[in-house]
Amino acid sequence: MAERISPVLINHRPFEPNGTIINSHHSSFLDQNPNVDTIVAVDDIEIPTVDFSVLFSDDLEKRSKAIENIGHVCEDFGFFYLVNHGVSEKVFESVFKGISDFFNPTEIEDRKQYEKKNPTDRIRWGLRSSPGENREYLKVIAHPEYHCPTKPAGFSEAMEEYFKRLRIIVDGLGKAFSKAMGFEECYIEKAFKLDSGFDMSAMNLYPPNFRSKGSIGVPNHTDPGFFVSLIQDVNSGLQILSHKGDWINVNMPPNAIFINLGDHLEILTNGKYKSHVHRVVVDNNKVKRISVATLHGPSLDSFVSPAPEFVDESHQPIYRGMTYKQSLEVNGGDEIDVQSSLEQIR
Ligand code: SIN
Ligand code: FE2
Repeated sequence: MAERISPVLINHRPFEPNGTIINSHHSSFLDQNPNVDTIVAVDDIEIPTVDFSVLFSDDLEKRSKAIENIGHVCEDFGFFYLVNHGVSEKVFESVFKGISDFFNPTEIEDRKQYEKKNPTDRIRWGLRSSPGENREYLKVIAHPEYHCPTKPAGFSEAMEEYFKRLRIIVDGLGKAFSKAMGFEECYIEKAFKLDSGFDMSAMNLYPPNFRSKGSIGVPNHTDPGFFVSLIQDVNSGLQILSHKGDWINVNMPPNAIFINLGDHLEILTNGKYKSHVHRVVVDNNKVKRISVATLHGPSLDSFVSPAPEFVDESHQPIYRGMTYKQSLEVNGGDEIDVQSSLEQIR
């Protein structure tokens, strides 16, 4: 069994256009390089689609094929579109309506009550308008406790319903990934204590609701946690960097949920299931865009390090362990704004 290595700081892991890792806060790279010319991404690399319902099919043959397939998708890509996930079109509609009402341009003064005051605030609002970041956001804790502004009417209820449905997906993917790795189905659930998993959701509004100060909505980063589920009202601007170094446009089929594996799954599996760098580009946006990125994490007290099952003579632990809470706090002590990343042991 591998020795635990004491916790160290985890920094953002922004990437240079050529793929080199820079260990610094994610916004500094683009602040210093506002004219970075690599915002072009391709549409012709297909992102795999995973049918959630087949993972639990009564047809055993279909089910085991689907489990095998999701294992390949996680290893070979690390991100996918999830369909037949049980979240109805009606739920999507009320989520986007609620968020759009919340971000009503004439009521911006009201939202300032949620402006970040200290890192433990459960609801936070912010407006970022700089060469490196252009978005308005509302961040809420979705699980194990739920917090959300109560106005406008219906908004909190719509989000609560959506987050409840997402928990079914967290549970299902935990089981499916565990089986795909060849373990008992509660392997990830136990490792991350998913019953009290810490979910933080960022609802984002991108220009042209307001004037952007550059081409970047959110700069290059990976997300902490087990995985991130993301929905968007228009296909515009989200780009993901593949294993092979291609930036791919995330053009989702209607009502799909984009799943991107998180840093802590990468740590737990000692690099077998990787998190992927992504960003949002707002260049030439003609319409506003709304997205909901929900970070599904381990419980705050889970100590996450490479699991013994992924460590042997030829696979030494390549990440240091720490609790999820520590990993969220290290970036300026701000567990919510952080979209932290991995500090590899070198
Ligand atoms: C993020 O990854 O922080 C936001 C992604 C998005 O808005 O699509
Ligand atoms: Fe992200």
